[in-house]
Amino acid sequence: MVPVPMISNTRHLTAAGLAAAVSLGLLFVTPAVAQHGHQQGHSPNVMEYLDRLDRPERDQEQKPAQVVETLGLKPGMSVADLGAGSGYFTRRFVEAVTETGMVYAIDVEPEALKYVEESLVHMHRPYTAEFIHARPGNPKLPVESVDLIFICNTYHHLEDRSTYFRNVKSALKPGGRIAIVDYYHDARSGELGFPKKHLVPRDTVVEELTAAGYKLVKEQTFLPKQYFLEFVP
Ligand SMILES: C[S@@+](CC[C@H](N)C(=O)[O-])C[C@H]1O[C@@H](n2cnc3c(N)ncnc32)[C@H](O)[C@@H]1O
Repeated sequence: MVPVPMISNTRHLTAAGLAAAVSLGLLFVTPAVAQHGHQQGHSPNVMEYLDRLDRPERDQEQKPAQVVETLGLKPGMSVADLGAGSGYFTRRFVEAVTETGMVYAIDVEPEALKYVEESLVHMHRPYTAEFIHARPGNPKLPVESVDLIFICNTYHHLEDRSTYFRNVKSALKPGGRIAIVDYYHDARSGELGFPKKHLVPRDTVVEELTAAGYKLVKEQTFLPKQYFLEFVP
């Protein structure tokens, strides 16, 4: 099955557009995270979840700067943040690829996409991004659209993963890759505040991606609670 390119909410926010939006009073001026907790139109449970993903203490173990640096992103590249959540990584990808690149924020939860889009606007910098409301079995990325599909703490949410990743291959540009970061299913991930039975062991990820036609090409071990694997078709 070839993914159907159904994209919603393309945004190419230039510096001029940003200035215009500010002058029209369309933008908030407080930092994204602080502002989000009080946005109207978001349901409290989802907001709590998204705010939690953005909690500053997370940086200590998630090491986002090191993760992004390791991915070797350059201005002009195209990245998909699959299971974007609050946009914790989406915002960092926008900075790394600049407005000359493209970031796809993808999620099954429309409120998450809205939250991500608002948080990008709050960054007050030009960016090029699209927000894709995915189906559970299809991220709906256009064919040959991305250099990297990044999946943090979302792999274990996906179902029938070998089929999913076999289909997703067509979204990668030549030379494209997939990076998967997710919690270890054992003691290494410590107390997570949710049951670990849904987590996927590192070796299972490798088996599933291999079955889907990928090869493990890199593995980083600097994250204390998560594996960090890179695959190419
Ligand atoms: C634990 S959060 C991780 C968010 C983000 N990647 C991060 O590291 O902060 C998982 C996210 O994946 C989304 N999700 C779950 N199943 C999905 C699917 N099949 N396709 C796309 N997103 C999905 C959820 O709505 C949620 O926002």
